[in-house]
Amino acid sequence: LDNGLALTPPMGWLSWLRFGCTIDCEKQPTECISENLIKRTADVMASEGYLEAGYQYVTIDDCWPEKKRGPDGRLVPDNKRFPSGIKALSRYVQSKGLKFGIYEDYGNYTCAGYPGVLGHEAIDVATFAEWEVDYVKLDGCGAPDPDEGYPMFGKHLNETGRPMLYSCSWPAYQKHPHYLAIAESCNIWRNYADIANSWHSVVGIMKWFGDHQDEFAKFAGPGHFNDPDMLVIGNSGLTVDQARVQMAVWSILAAPLIMSADLSTMKPEFKEILLNRDVIAVNQDVLGKQGLRVWTSDDKKQVIWHRELEGDARALAFVNLGDKAIDNSYSHEQMLLPIQDFFVKDLYKEEQDQILSRNDDFHVRINATGVKFYKFIPKECESDDVSENEIKEI
Ligand code: DGJ
Repeated sequence: LDNGLALTPPMGWLSWLRFGCTIDCEKQPTECISENLIKRTADVMASEGYLEAGYQYVTIDDCWPEKKRGPDGRLVPDNKRFPSGIKALSRYVQSKGLKFGIYEDYGNYTCAGYPGVLGHEAIDVATFAEWEVDYVKLDGCGAPDPDEGYPMFGKHLNETGRPMLYSCSWPAYQKHPHYLAIAESCNIWRNYADIANSWHSVVGIMKWFGDHQDEFAKFAGPGHFNDPDMLVIGNSGLTVDQARVQMAVWSILAAPLIMSADLSTMKPEFKEILLNRDVIAVNQDVLGKQGLRVWTSDDKKQVIWHRELEGDARALAFVNLGDKAIDNSYSHEQMLLPIQDFFVKDLYKEEQDQILSRNDDFHVRINATGVKFYKFIPKECESDDVSENEIKEI
């Protein structure tokens, strides 16, 4: 969507994966979907380096409204959980330098049974604009005709004159999505099933994105990106190695980096992954080109992902899906690299910078269910990234 937003993949936080539809604030005061949760998250994002690293949007997912619309037909936030109202909340979030997002569904009801926008599109968009919303996620449970509804809702958003990033779940509810139309109408779109708090789920999504990349990778670019769903990192479901895999592959995919964890109890080893500047720089590369799965071993356990970056550089993620460490060497051909010399930087900084000669294979050691993530910079081109004396020949 050409609305000036999401020129690189959006970064932020969304409540769903971690907090779901927890609504009993008496029993679960720190877990429930409420203004307190959103404010607490915004506070940490602004004070603990997340905003500085690029995480900007704080978005409430499902279960924020009252079950019934107000007498004027408008959506009303749950009055126990959002007693100050949404406008005050978006102002609070924005006062921290962040941006505020909200969720709705193009059906009669949201997936969790709250009022959907169907038949109320104009008034709901007007309400969001009045609340100074910066980001709208539009889900697709019960959507009668997504091919018509999503562009129409997007038109309403545009007509408000307020730039609101438009996140569509449109293709996730279809067998044969029209990606061209989707990329014209939406800034980001969910292609596939919901992510869960597990390695199994992350592996399933990576496999699906690899298997189907030819259908939709080409539709990614500045203003419009495929969305493999939230980052699970920082929850109980992934080890540190597995979290590094998700961060690396999501960066290769030019995916939105949308966290969904309790930031106030985030462990430092996960925070370090989420805030890794070199990895984020791959995700945010200005070309906005989505990377591809370029090589898989016969036993399917070793996978190479490859993304083209500005200045003829490349990011390569060597993923080990198996439960034993791997030692292997890969040819330029397997890595889909042109035959030339490269400076090579380990983006998780476990290894010294190296040089890969055009005549050599590249040797990699990968932990079980882990990743090695490198930036390859053509040696001919002088780069600020790596200075000659930083490099040790191997
Ligand atoms: C389905 C979506 O895919 C999820 O991300 C989440 O928004 C839920 N619906 C909410 O009900």
